[in-house]
Amino acid sequence: MSDIIVSDVSKSFGREILHSLSFTVSSGDFLSITGESGSGKSTLLAIMGGVLRPDAGSVRIGGVDIASLSEKELAKMRRTSLGYVYQFFNLIPTMTVRENILLPLVLDGKKPSLYKDKFDELVAFTHLRAVLDAYPDTLSGGEQQRAAILRALIHDPEVILLDEPTGNLDSENAEAVMRLLSDLNKTYGVTVVQVTHSEQGAAYGRTRIHLKDGRIS
Ligand SMILES: Nc1ncnc2c1ncn2[C@@H]1O[C@H](COP(=O)(O)OP(=O)(O)OP(=O)(O)O)[C@@H](O)[C@H]1O
Ligand SMILES: [Mg+2]
Repeated sequence: MSDIIVSDVSKSFGREILHSLSFTVSSGDFLSITGESGSGKSTLLAIMGGVLRPDAGSVRIGGVDIASLSEKELAKMRRTSLGYVYQFFNLIPTMTVRENILLPLVLDGKKPSLYKDKFDELVAFTHLRAVLDAYPDTLSGGEQQRAAILRALIHDPEVILLDEPTGNLDSENAEAVMRLLSDLNKTYGVTVVQVTHSEQGAAYGRTRIHLKDGRIS
């Protein structure tokens, strides 16, 4: 099982955005990262997911320093052991929901048919059966977010990182997505790390980190 160990991570964009942050996310935890707009939440999440490299410090997942991985290995990690959900879903508009969900497998050269049981289970879990053959722009915001989450889960990752999973949703859809994350954490033991503006959303987490000007406060 993979703890995520963040050690002395700093990042500058002209000025320093993250100031030597250190913390550990234990395997199976549900962490909420909160803080004002501009406090560095998305930057931190991107570093934890290997989307951005820190200027100093390290992120180790399951003992592997992700800075030691090549771009290709990082991309593979994001498609396999990590699930990363961007703020604006990132579903591909010209593919159906089913094709979007299966895309990480196809990119990885895996046969989707081998994942049929997992696929069916997750489709039931996320209540997306009725929209599988539809295109993303015909779905509600909540359905699109659930499809993006399902796509990040098809590989059975140990960790899922989400940037504002409820940022674009009304309160009813937001609650459904938060319940889904909570169930994922409890039922499958997936480690969940979410960035959120929402107090209600943050309360679903078990642990919380609050960022203020790039420091844990
Ligand atoms: N690629 C970049 N180039 C330059 N500056 C950046 C870049 N990414 C982030 N920043 C700056 O870093 C700071 C933190 O940005 P970040 O996106 O991490 O904040 P945030 O806490 O996620 O904010 P929000 O809640 O609005 O999403 C901001 O001042 C932002 O302008
Ligand atoms: Mg952000």
